[in-house]
Amino acid sequence: MKNVIARQRRQLIKALACLPLCWSFPTLGNLQSQQLTKLIPGTKESLPQIGMGSWLTFNVGNNNSLRQARAQVLNAFFQQGGKLIDSSPMYGSSEAVIGYCLQQQTPTPELFSASKTWTSHPEQTLSQFKHSLSLWTQQHFDLLQIHNLRAWQHHLPKLQQLKAQGKIRYIGITTSHGRRHNEMEKIMQHQPIDFVQFSYNMSNRDVEQRLLPLAIEKGLAVIINRPLDGGKLMQRFEHKPLPAWAKEFDCFNWAQFFLKFVISHPAVTCAIPATSQVAHMRENMGASYGRLPTPELRQKMFSYLDSV
Ligand SMILES: NC(=O)c1ccc[n+]([C@@H]2O[C@H](COP(=O)([O-])OP(=O)(O)OC[C@H]3O[C@@H](n4cnc5c(N)ncnc54)[C@H](OP(=O)(O)O)[C@@H]3O)[C@@H](O)[C@H]2O)c1
Repeated sequence: MKNVIARQRRQLIKALACLPLCWSFPTLGNLQSQQLTKLIPGTKESLPQIGMGSWLTFNVGNNNSLRQARAQVLNAFFQQGGKLIDSSPMYGSSEAVIGYCLQQQTPTPELFSASKTWTSHPEQTLSQFKHSLSLWTQQHFDLLQIHNLRAWQHHLPKLQQLKAQGKIRYIGITTSHGRRHNEMEKIMQHQPIDFVQFSYNMSNRDVEQRLLPLAIEKGLAVIINRPLDGGKLMQRFEHKPLPAWAKEFDCFNWAQFFLKFVISHPAVTCAIPATSQVAHMRENMGASYGRLPTPELRQKMFSYLDSV
C-alpha cells in the first residue's frame, strides 16, 4: 500500500511539473488594488513600483532545471502584479532565458519590456536590437536604454527613429557608476530621453544630490538599479532584528525595508531588484504593496541601521 501511495505521489508531482505556469490576478483579491504604482511622467501610463532585474540571476544558459527554476521566479513576479523586466545584451544568456520563461507563462502576462543597446559599434544598433527582440520573443520593446552611456551619441538618433516607427515606446540611458554621473546629468539636461536608470540604495545615496532632483525637474521616469546594493545590504542585516515600527509602513522583512526606502523617494518610478529565488521574489514584490515610509520614517530608518 505504501508503495502505491508513493508511486501515485511521484506521478502527481511529475504531472504538475508538466503543467504550464499559470498565474491569475483574482487570487490576489484586494491586495492587487493596493499595489503601489507611479505614472511615467508626461503620460497616463503607470508602472508597479517594483520591477525585476536580470543581471547574473537569469544568466543560466541552456541548463533545463535552472531555466525551469527561473520560470517559477518569473511566475511569482507576475502573480504579485509585476510588469517591468530589465535586461541587456551584456547579461550573457539572460535575454534568451527571459524569452524562454515568458513562453512558459499562461495566460500571456502583461509585460513592460526594458532592454538595452550595448555596443561601441554604431552600425550594430539595429542588428543588436533585432537580435534582442528575437531572444525575448517580442515584437517590440517598451523601453530601449543605452547601457552605461556606451556610444550614446551614435545610438540616440537611431533610438529616436525606432521610436518614431513604433518599434520602441520609450528611450532611456543607464549607469551604475558615480564616475558617469556628470555625463548623465548633461544628457538629462539636453537630450530627448524618457527614462534614466542609475544606482540608489541605503548604502549609496549619491544621486539624491543632483540626479534625482533633476529627473523631477525634467519630467523623466527613474528606474533604480542595485536597490539592495547587489545583495550586500541583505547579507549585512539579515540576521539583525527588524524594528517593530517597520510595520507602520507595512514592511515585514529586510528586503522590504531596503526597497521601500528606495521607492519612497518622490523622484523614483520603480526599483528593479534581481533574484534567482521564488521566496526572495515574493519578499521583494511585497514591497510594492501597502504604505511607504514618510520622510520622518526614512530618517529613522538610517538611524536604526547605524545603531544595529
Ligand atoms: N548599468 C546598468 O544598466 C545596470 C547596472 C547594474 C544593474 N542593472 C540592473 O539592475 C538590476 C539589479 O541590480 P543588481 O542585480 O546588481 O543588484 P540587487 O538587485 O541590488 O541585488 C541582487 C542580489 O540580491 C539578492 N537578493 C535579492 N532579493 C533578495 C532577498 N529578498 N533576500 C536576500 N537576498 C536577495 C540576490 O540573490 P538571490 O538570487 O539569492 O536572491 C542577488 O544576489 C540588475 O539585475 C540589472 O538588471 C543595470
